[in-house]
Amino acid sequence: MAADRGLVCLQDYERHAHRHLDRNALDYYRSGAGDEYSLGLNQTSFRSYRIRPRCLVDVSRVDLSARALGAAVSLPVGISPTAMQRMAHPDGECATARAAGEAGTVFILSTLSTSSVEEVAAAAPDTTKWFQLYIYKDRELTRQLVKRVEAAGFRALVLTVDAPVFGIRRSDVRNQFKLPPHLTLANFTGLHATDVNESKGGSGINEYVLSLFDPALCWDDVAWLKSITKLPIVLKGILTAQDAVRGVDAGAAAIMVSNHGARQVDSTPATIEALPEVARAVGGRAEVYLDGGVRQGTDVFKALALGARMVFLGRPALWGLAHSGQRGVRSILDIVRWELETTFSLTGCNSVQSIRPCMVVHKSFYHKL
Ligand code: FNR
Repeated sequence: MAADRGLVCLQDYERHAHRHLDRNALDYYRSGAGDEYSLGLNQTSFRSYRIRPRCLVDVSRVDLSARALGAAVSLPVGISPTAMQRMAHPDGECATARAAGEAGTVFILSTLSTSSVEEVAAAAPDTTKWFQLYIYKDRELTRQLVKRVEAAGFRALVLTVDAPVFGIRRSDVRNQFKLPPHLTLANFTGLHATDVNESKGGSGINEYVLSLFDPALCWDDVAWLKSITKLPIVLKGILTAQDAVRGVDAGAAAIMVSNHGARQVDSTPATIEALPEVARAVGGRAEVYLDGGVRQGTDVFKALALGARMVFLGRPALWGLAHSGQRGVRSILDIVRWELETTFSLTGCNSVQSIRPCMVVHKSFYHKL
């Protein structure tokens, strides 16, 4: 693995970003809701699971490839949607999408992106691209966006279901967060839905969401979305067995276990804690993914063993982008690939299919012995 000088793990890129991004952008990217308890939990909870390696297995060839919604990926780690990536680097979402394509994995574009659906499609024609959707009160605006996404060749809609309003991220309130004046919410140029360049005294993004997103969103809207598109729908932000079952019954092709990077309700479980109940409830009727706190190959391995088909990275891609645009995001994915491959080799796994659920246990397993 040819790492950037001195940067050998995702945390190295995070530290670099902390030193180089301005306060408005860094706090927006970094922060979680409330006390940021769940923000820490997303990462530390991975430590509560133990890997049980198997020995003397031929690992001369290790294959990390997988399939997600019918698309082949060379790594079961994709990029989660994060808004406003041009605050991190002038190439923003276009660079991230290209890096995901180079690494052979999925890129998810946020509704609140600073590069438009069409720009990203043109910049990364060969990348498997999914689009994260927020449903606006203005359903016609939403419908038109879905049609543009389809026309641009995106392969799935990722409907975020944990954001009827936005959580309270204290540093954004303190900073009166706003998008710098040279940037815009590029999917809505010329429409009133671009106004995040100002704050009325609090977080500009929360004010935007309050005025434009539909807090009345409910399960009927999943049916509405299905009625206007043929794209498969991923429900992002599910944390319970009940909602997972409801989602599958509503026709979701995949369920993404996510707490929005701990940016919505503080004190939600870590996503790795919620994964087993969701995977069990879904029972193979839809694909299951996870994001939140994934920072190294062993985290990915644990999520795969506990029932995820793919995991996704949010903030780490932003740290890579802030470092060196497309190359930095590519480095992030290369590091995770290297760590995951090493984990596979050292646990006696030569393919994703060879991971057995019993290879990852909660630490309480050892206390009972
Ligand atoms: C997000 N997330 C997010 N989710 C979403 O559905 N639409 C969005 O526009 C955004 N925007 C966004 C911005 C920033 C700065 C962050 C950190 C997160 C949530 C994101 O998709 C994902 O769920 C988490 O980031 C995953 O956690 P980690 O990997 O950041 O710990």
